[in-house]
Amino acid sequence: MPTLDLAPASVADYRRLAERRLPRFLFDYLDGGAYAEVTLARNVRDFERLALLQRILKDVSARSTATNLFGAEATMPLALSPVGLSGMMARRGEAAARRVAGAFGVPYCLSTLSVCSVEETAAAGSGPLWFQLYMIRDREACADLIRRAKAAGVSVLVLTVDLPVVGTRYRDVRNTMSGGGNVWTQLRRGLISYALHPGWTLDVGLGGKPHVLGNIAPYVKSASTPADFSAWANASIDPSISWADLAWIRAQWGGLLVIKGILSPEDAVEAVKHGADGIIVSNHGGRQLDGVASSISMLPRIAEKVSGQTKLFIDGGVRSGQDILKAMALGADAAMIGRPWVYALAGAGEAGLLNQLKALHGEFSVSMALTGVTETHQISRSVLDLGAAGGI
Ligand code: FNR
Ligand code: LAC
Repeated sequence: MPTLDLAPASVADYRRLAERRLPRFLFDYLDGGAYAEVTLARNVRDFERLALLQRILKDVSARSTATNLFGAEATMPLALSPVGLSGMMARRGEAAARRVAGAFGVPYCLSTLSVCSVEETAAAGSGPLWFQLYMIRDREACADLIRRAKAAGVSVLVLTVDLPVVGTRYRDVRNTMSGGGNVWTQLRRGLISYALHPGWTLDVGLGGKPHVLGNIAPYVKSASTPADFSAWANASIDPSISWADLAWIRAQWGGLLVIKGILSPEDAVEAVKHGADGIIVSNHGGRQLDGVASSISMLPRIAEKVSGQTKLFIDGGVRSGQDILKAMALGADAAMIGRPWVYALAGAGEAGLLNQLKALHGEFSVSMALTGVTETHQISRSVLDLGAAGGI
């Protein structure tokens, strides 16, 4: 177990640093999943169950981890998934993530439900910025948000479709994060939690203000603070959204469109029929429908149907460079991480996030070498020992 005077090496180490630093309700919101967290555990476990196949004597002295994502060169096949309320986890967290991702050379996807607005985030750094959209009931607000993303220079619009309603997370219920609860109990818990986490309280709680949700604040009178984000999400995200609405979004946006939250092969085919430039195989990090299969276990069947017709991404349970290699072996063009980058940023700041990305890069590059590949386009199922793993 890492202690404070040991350098963090793995995602698990950064998770522990985040746990120490964040008030309990925030760490639980970040770390937790829906209901009993069966899918959350599956996401990680199914990556672990896949075995890589060690290969030898293939001259791996010159290697490149680079890849091209939507016309932009990336240091490696990785992108940062959208995580709501990152600006509560770290000081102006979304702007910070943008800076680090840009400097390292991977795309960062900003959530609709962020503290920093798309304008503030865009101005903070360089490199490809993606914007994640929730379909908002108020279509004028939704269209305006899309316009703002375009004006800020966003290159890819990511429409998240696995949250027509918000999945219940037991940890958030216990912390009364999802609304309800006695206001005095909340206040008492909040004060105790802030007092126990002075580093966060001074740096983020006080120093990171304002904490309004920067993207949606212009469209709401109340419910623009993180405390009522859950109420806002339930009231404002449109559960009536269907395939027919994609045309409207396309018309507003007119650029590259990626659909996030696909787990069924049929839905993947449908997304391609509707012209998706990319899809993200995802179960929202096990935060929505508990009990669904892991993302990685669904990837092969989805790749079989749509490979080559759309860019294929996956998130959920990616915790190492080896996992990125496994995702690519099963058909992904790139992997994405959600919790890991926030653990690092919350627990160890911008330097911590940069170190984590460098560590993932190192692991990925070494794993390529030890499976005998030197270019990302050479990665195929042959880097896996599917027999030994018994498949997933
Ligand atoms: C998320 N995720 C998410 N997805 C999205 O499309 N919009 C959002 O606002 C959020 N918010 C959010 C908050 C938190 C705290 C977490 C942990 C996740 C889901 C996210 O983009 C991604 O799909 C998962 O996090 C991937 O799983 P891992 O990498 O966390 O295992
Ligand atoms: C979540 C929403 C914000 O997963 O996407 O908490």
